[in-house]
Amino acid sequence: MDIRCFVWMLFSTVCLCGFASGENLRICVVESVHTAKRIHRLCPKLGNLTNQVECVVGNDRFNCLRRLTAGTADFTVLEPEDVVAAAAYREYNVLVTNEMRLFPQEKYRFQMVAIVRDSVQHLWDIRGKRLCHPGFETLDDWTKPFSTYLENRIIVKDCDPSKTLLENRIASLSSSFEMACIAGPWAADSAFDSLLKSRYKNLCALCDNPAGCYSSDKYHGREGALLCLSDNVGDIAWVRLDDALEFFKNENIDKSHFNYFCPDGTRRPIGMQNPCTWITKPWPVVVARSQIAEKVGQTMSALKESKFEWQTVLGELMESYRPTPVNTDIIETPEDYLQKFPGFLSANSRASCRPSRRIQWCVASNLEERKCRWLREASFVYGIEPAISCIQESNRSACFSAVKDHRADIFVARPEELFDAKKRGLKEIMQALPKKNEELSRIVALVKYNSLFRSLRDVKGTKACFAGYGNVGWNAFVTIMRNISSNQWSCSDAKAVAKFFKHSCVFGLGDKIREVPNNLYSLCTRESQAENDTSAFDCLYSGKAEVAFVDLKVIGKKIGSSVSGNVISIKGAKYRTLCQNNTNINDERICLLTWAPLSSVIAHENITDVRRQEIYLALLEMDQLFGQTFNGQTPAFSLYGNYDSMQNIVFPVRILKV
Ligand SMILES: *[C@@H]1O[C@H](CO)[C@@H](O)[C@H](O)[C@H]1NC(C)=O
Ligand SMILES: *[C@@H]1O[C@H](CO)[C@@H](O)[C@H](O)[C@H]1NC(C)=O
Ligand SMILES: *[C@@H]1O[C@H](CO)[C@@H](O)[C@H](O)[C@H]1NC(C)=O
Ligand SMILES: *[C@@H]1O[C@H](CO)[C@@H](O)[C@H](O)[C@H]1NC(C)=O
Ligand SMILES: *[C@@H]1O[C@H](CO)[C@@H](O)[C@H](O)[C@H]1NC(C)=O
Ligand SMILES: *[C@@H]1O[C@H](CO)[C@@H](O)[C@H](O)[C@H]1NC(C)=O
Repeated sequence: MDIRCFVWMLFSTVCLCGFASGENLRICVVESVHTAKRIHRLCPKLGNLTNQVECVVGNDRFNCLRRLTAGTADFTVLEPEDVVAAAAYREYNVLVTNEMRLFPQEKYRFQMVAIVRDSVQHLWDIRGKRLCHPGFETLDDWTKPFSTYLENRIIVKDCDPSKTLLENRIASLSSSFEMACIAGPWAADSAFDSLLKSRYKNLCALCDNPAGCYSSDKYHGREGALLCLSDNVGDIAWVRLDDALEFFKNENIDKSHFNYFCPDGTRRPIGMQNPCTWITKPWPVVVARSQIAEKVGQTMSALKESKFEWQTVLGELMESYRPTPVNTDIIETPEDYLQKFPGFLSANSRASCRPSRRIQWCVASNLEERKCRWLREASFVYGIEPAISCIQESNRSACFSAVKDHRADIFVARPEELFDAKKRGLKEIMQALPKKNEELSRIVALVKYNSLFRSLRDVKGTKACFAGYGNVGWNAFVTIMRNISSNQWSCSDAKAVAKFFKHSCVFGLGDKIREVPNNLYSLCTRESQAENDTSAFDCLYSGKAEVAFVDLKVIGKKIGSSVSGNVISIKGAKYRTLCQNNTNINDERICLLTWAPLSSVIAHENITDVRRQEIYLALLEMDQLFGQTFNGQTPAFSLYGNYDSMQNIVFPVRILKV
């Protein structure tokens, strides 16, 4: 029987069973730096080999999930944390059909146990003991809700308003245990990390190298935590059950001194059939649109036989999960499915502080709000603290007001909005910066190389072109000129600039043209009113103006330029930049009036240091988990990437830095 015939038979069976159609199943695969090659090699092949399954490519796992709901894909593979997020959206009509088990016999990916020495008999014995902990950093399947699960269950968390949430957590740990080894980073920012480690030294005191407390420590990680216990260093260790079982196989270790410590406060001997576990990690799962879930389940189950080449190809395509798809007993809703994993869902009900310390994040459109909600879910299930709330306002200006009035903590502002934001009593707490400097907006006052002007003051009374009105370049010039001429500028910015230059053309005046002095557009030709760096440069190039305020990034991209020392060559002519003060013509540098990040996170100017720090750390962690880098093979969510093919929602496609 050839493939086509078989396929036809399968389809007819499918149809007999009452499935909607005999159409292809569409698998949504996530393209990332790790998977792109495989996808580009295998997806076309899959299409050629069969008309059973075809690829749909998404940019993150949540994007794939949304495609299922939109009906543009039929199934995808998710991490269990993603499934928790999906369960938060009741309207998401998806079902869990298979588990991608690495070991077909293992029901759970892993389980966590607490192992104690004889010195710990009861729950109240824990206080003042010595803790062996694998570490807090998120790595593959080791996420925050797992690393912090034990402490969240046995220690009462502090909510001291003079400390960040993270520091509160560390402080409670520090006072609950005599000593510990929790090596590796505690915070996403290394300066803050060092500070915490110097303040709460006892949490590194058990480490092999207490002063370092590095992830390379002997007592760090899965094995390290067990070694820490068996080397007679600690009294209690937070470890994986499979690691523990393996470890205690070693006959040199006297098992009789160790017990499992159970969530109900009792103990059980190591080596008993039923160890007591605290939290269980599910395998990655296949989720499918509910209408087509049964067919997906069957297709996936058939994969392990690999009778046909397309099945092998599909298997390879899902290689990140080293799959052995195992049918779930019954096809279930995400919530029902997750209920079967002790502790997993409850890891997400963490005690919160009062008053709430959620980050109130202002968003100014429906699209921003949707992206923010996914970020909220993603951050929460991956254990980022504080959690965020998305506050929607009807426009950007209302978001600035919300931050000003303390109704929101932060808003992501565009470069051209910063000037006004600062005037309104807001300040930048973080910036989104590009990877390369060439991608930064670099605003300069450009003049012909052989002109006689030496500084910005010299262009008074001349002719100028501005690329935009109220944009970053305009604001930079206004700021500098106000500073230089101290208090001489009492009138509006537009009037002041009009007084400074004899004639000018300010592009992008739009409706404002009726309100501003006419020498702000006396050089303009009628057809060129939109904000435009190229046109502003052309003013200078054609000799219409003597100075142009432009963004070198845009000029470089749109026209092309080359820089050598202080000489900028554009369209075969030589230019130079003006500095605020007189400079030597031989000075070998370019003067920037300002540069601008791609966007800035702004907050109230009177935000407390603690609050700023805690927001900063949370954003940094989001950047690490959902930014240019991410945990695992594919990102759950992309902070800077497209949101359902829309670019620049909330954040531009870039990196977050201070
Ligand atoms: C798929 O088939 C097309 C045309 O039939 C062919 O051009 C292409 O090379 C094939 N691709 C693969 C990956 O086999
Ligand atoms: C922005 O929204 C606020 C409040 O909803 C409204 O009062 C204001 O007029 C809006 N501004 C613009 C420019 O649409
Ligand atoms: C910040 O605090 C200072 C001093 O208390 C106050 O003068 C200022 O108005 C506050 N800023 C805002 C935007 O409320
Ligand atoms: C104004 O100029 C002084 C010195 O010339 C400088 O220190 C200050 O930062 C400037 N202020 C602004 C807002 O540029
Ligand atoms: C800027 O002006 C140039 C002509 O000077 C035109 O070709 C270009 O399309 C304009 N760009 C924008 C963004 O309007
Ligand atoms: C410009 O020169 C003045 C005095 O000549 C000096 O006070 C000021 O700091 C200089 N500004 C810059 C930006 O170099």
